[in-house]
Amino acid sequence: MTRAPLSLPQVRGFLKTERTDRWWIAPLLVLAGFGAFIIYSTWAAFQGNNFFIGGVEQPGVQQLLSPFYSPVIWDPRGVHSGHAWLGELPLWWPAWLIFSPALLILPFPGGFRFTCYYYRGAYYKAFWGDPASCAVGEPALRGTNYRGEEKFPLIFQNVHRYFLYVAIIFIGLLAWDGYQSLWHYNAAGQTEFGFSVGSIVLIANPILLGAYTFGCHCWRHLIGGKHDCLSCSKSRQSAYKQVSWLNQRHMLFAWISLFGVAFTDIYVRLCANGTLTDWRIL
Ligand code: FES
Repeated sequence: MTRAPLSLPQVRGFLKTERTDRWWIAPLLVLAGFGAFIIYSTWAAFQGNNFFIGGVEQPGVQQLLSPFYSPVIWDPRGVHSGHAWLGELPLWWPAWLIFSPALLILPFPGGFRFTCYYYRGAYYKAFWGDPASCAVGEPALRGTNYRGEEKFPLIFQNVHRYFLYVAIIFIGLLAWDGYQSLWHYNAAGQTEFGFSVGSIVLIANPILLGAYTFGCHCWRHLIGGKHDCLSCSKSRQSAYKQVSWLNQRHMLFAWISLFGVAFTDIYVRLCANGTLTDWRIL
């Protein structure tokens, strides 16, 4: 068989392609969806209010805490969420330095998503079009020394495996918040079991986040990597298969959990500012 000579690299003008399918839809949806999440979560993180309902000051109301603010290290001054590990913001915190409990913790789950293998592929295409898609021309912005994730600054994306360990801790913390949403205070200041729409929302959130987190490529490697004979260990082989099932749906759970966590914050925020009432089922 004769082959036509092919010169490499194939240089095309930016967004030039011979593809005839609608390749641009996926990056456009990522741009809209991920962009909207970044804008909303940044706004919500800076608010520093309306991040919880319930507690001893609101008898009969289930205890709901926004996942953007969990765990609460310090409450803002004058706020008593009942969730703060160290009480109110200490006096040594400089008055000029903006404070919101979310700003102390969001870099960890944010870093986990930002460095996720799936999201990297998605936002490289959607936000800086490099590459815009397979077989689509790239912008001529980079020099000949460009080495992608092998060099600074993108080499920092390799920190993802360490963010995974923190993300697993966050799943536990959010599961605890889900459990706490099953309780409210009565007028005598004692806790009682209860169940509300908010409880469903707060319990569903860590389940969806778990489906995303435990489908992580790094987790899959931890579970089944470095083995010449995976089938020799039945338990690890079974765990590997289950992680693989989640891993094959990683993109799906990435998006569902992203909107799930935003929805949970919106729900708690609307209940906290009086727009919604958290309906108690039990
Ligand atoms: S690869 Fe997506 S969370 Fe690790």
